[in-house]
Amino acid sequence: MEKLLNFKLKIWRQKNNLDKGYFKNYNINNISPNSSFLEMLDLLNEKLLYSKQELPISFDHDCREGICGMCSLYINGRAHGPDNLTTTCQLHMRSFSDGETICIEPWRAKPFPIIKDLVVDRSSFDRIIISGGYISVDTFGSTIDGNTILIPRDKASEAFDAATCIGCGACVAACKNRSAMLFVSSKISQLSMLPQGKIERKKRVLNMVQKMDEEGFGSCTNTGSCELECPKGISTDYISILNKEYIISFIS
Ligand code: FES
Repeated sequence: MEKLLNFKLKIWRQKNNLDKGYFKNYNINNISPNSSFLEMLDLLNEKLLYSKQELPISFDHDCREGICGMCSLYINGRAHGPDNLTTTCQLHMRSFSDGETICIEPWRAKPFPIIKDLVVDRSSFDRIIISGGYISVDTFGSTIDGNTILIPRDKASEAFDAATCIGCGACVAACKNRSAMLFVSSKISQLSMLPQGKIERKKRVLNMVQKMDEEGFGSCTNTGSCELECPKGISTDYISILNKEYIISFIS
């Protein structure tokens, strides 16, 4: 029979963006090691709901499959917790020791203001995408099927790797400068490598970098913490591609 686990949780509670916020301690017992981290939080919330003494803890989630990037939590001082290449929703309680104290915080970054408890507003990322993270295609009439455009295999693979960024914001939360360069560079690289994205590449990189600065994200100083904490293993090589794209666009 599997041994059930007990934990002490230290969770950030904050009523709204104006509230100061504080850590609150909770005990949670008899957790299956095969429960996901979010299932463990669900059980705690059930307990809080039944007690009728406290509101449940707000936290973000959607797909619970490592796809949407919503489950943005800082766990024991690491974005998405102790396991590499793992989102919070894919993290299992067997990654923690019985009796361990687990500290759970929201992303800490000015461009991601806290909405409530562990939920932050990441619409600054959406605004960066709106500023250029797309291709313009006239879909009226005889549009060429994208699948018929030949793309070298290595380019397609590289673009695909960049496209695996789920926009969770772990790179920003892990960076001491709160830089969004890994996120922005993955979007720019993904598009600039493919024929469909080449047409708007100059305008795109200038607009997206400008928007990133306007939103208050910091500069990159090559610490590499973004790559280390990225649950999708996005490489900082894409930051070099962004810098190259930016210089070319700026001087031409
Ligand atoms: S809930 Fe979608 S990536 Fe975690």
